Amino acid sequence: MKSSLRNNLAIALGLLVSAAAIAQGISSYQLCRSGMSALLDLRLEQVAVRMRNGLADSIPATPARGSQPSRDIVITIRKPGAEVPLRSTDPSLQLPQDAAAGLSSDDVNGERWRIYTLRDAGSLIQVAQRSSVREELEREAALTTLWPTLVLLPLVLGAVLLIVRVSFRKMNQLGNEVQEIDASRLRPLPSAGVPSELQPFVDSINRMIGRLAQSIEAERKFIADAAHELRTPLTALQLQADNLQPHIVPGNQERFNELRSGIGRSSALIAQLLRLARADAPLSGSTIEPTDVSEIVVQAVSDVLPIAAARGIDIGAEEMVQDRVAASAADVAIAVKNLVSNAIRYTPDGGTIDLRMRTEGTMLWVEVTDTGPGIAPELLPRVFDRFFRANLDIEGTGLGLSIVRSITQKYGGDAQIRNRNDGRSGIVAAVSFPLAEMFTGASGHGAGTTTGKLAQATGATRYLHGRDV
Ligand SMILES: Nc1ncnc2c1ncn2[C@@H]1O[C@H](COP(=O)(O)OP(=O)(O)OP(=O)(O)O)[C@@H](O)[C@H]1O
Ligand SMILES: [Mg+2]
Repeated sequence: MKSSLRNNLAIALGLLVSAAAIAQGISSYQLCRSGMSALLDLRLEQVAVRMRNGLADSIPATPARGSQPSRDIVITIRKPGAEVPLRSTDPSLQLPQDAAAGLSSDDVNGERWRIYTLRDAGSLIQVAQRSSVREELEREAALTTLWPTLVLLPLVLGAVLLIVRVSFRKMNQLGNEVQEIDASRLRPLPSAGVPSELQPFVDSINRMIGRLAQSIEAERKFIADAAHELRTPLTALQLQADNLQPHIVPGNQERFNELRSGIGRSSALIAQLLRLARADAPLSGSTIEPTDVSEIVVQAVSDVLPIAAARGIDIGAEEMVQDRVAASAADVAIAVKNLVSNAIRYTPDGGTIDLRMRTEGTMLWVEVTDTGPGIAPELLPRVFDRFFRANLDIEGTGLGLSIVRSITQKYGGDAQIRNRNDGRSGIVAAVSFPLAEMFTGASGHGAGTTTGKLAQATGATRYLHGRDV
């Protein structure tokens, strides 16, 4: 597992706070116990002094044995050397007469006692308390000092976690934004609100993004310029080949045709390269007018109707929606036309091509489903790569889907290709563009769905799956 700075910091601070709380708890417990012990000792001494100063008479001369609660202190007053005490709160307890003056501890009747001994010429005063009672009192007092720590520790730990989390929020935000950076989205990271420690990091990423954007733009411009420069001589070649056509002797006709189709392929490649360079160009700052995608779908179908008719391909639109998207009409048209032209190119004669539009969340999707051979699953992830062709028998430049992806990414949309999952062979190729917000609210999901509208728009009822509309 990757180590996380945030988790490490939270754990380290948590351990530090816990260790400090434990140390504080232990020391306050011990301090309280020793303070309590000193207080209890002082009490024994004070009671002994009071007895000497005339309070001894308050003790009954003959108290009942065992009548005294075990937690109370025991007071014994005797003549030095006398076996029987003059007065005692517990006559059954024989405190040691030879105990050192002042405080001492001794075992009496099988129990440990703390004893204060006060001697003078005519009397021996001893005040004693069970050590077990003292310990209990000390423990009780000391435990009460732990409560604030016990209550505060979880609160402080929670606060530490919260502070670490909030401090790292900006870092996580930056991480997400860095993750979204790719060739089609090279925006500099925002510097506002960035902690000073992270500023150098953000600055160097932004410099790197700047350099990357420059080199991508230089590469794009080079491709665009090269394609543009090549277009003119190729058009001239094409023209010359057309002029030469009548003068080619029949024996050379086949080779001449190969030459012409070679020129045609090169022209197609250059046209696609130019489209790719345009698709890769970043969006200019100007506002984009909302685009009616249904019109584009109608146009894309009517463009291929003659070819579809010639090859007996049944092309039609199942569902249309009237929502508009926030993307330039020219770009949406290029994307949709690429999918339709692929479907026409790779679907065998007599096949079927369905176009569908649907809205999903904030996106409008256009789906083109065909009855072609489909694409081997292991090749699917590569179909958007530049110059990749899954089927080398059919002519193509391998750039169409790269153009589609560049366009959709530029607007925050998506392009997907998958094999059909309804048991039939074929491809479902789909593009999505973000809905233009001002229109989505009004029409809602699928509010403008119509079926067969395409037929009315194009007047091409024959090719709408044989339906008369
Ligand atoms: N509808 C489809 N059915 C089967 N294979 C397809 C379909 N669409 C695309 N492919 C495969 O994906 C490859 C890449 O498609 P892409 O559109 O990028 O290039 P292309 O069609 O070969 O050339 P271009 O579109 O630039 O003329 C194609 O060569 C083809 O093998
Ligand atoms: Mg194509």
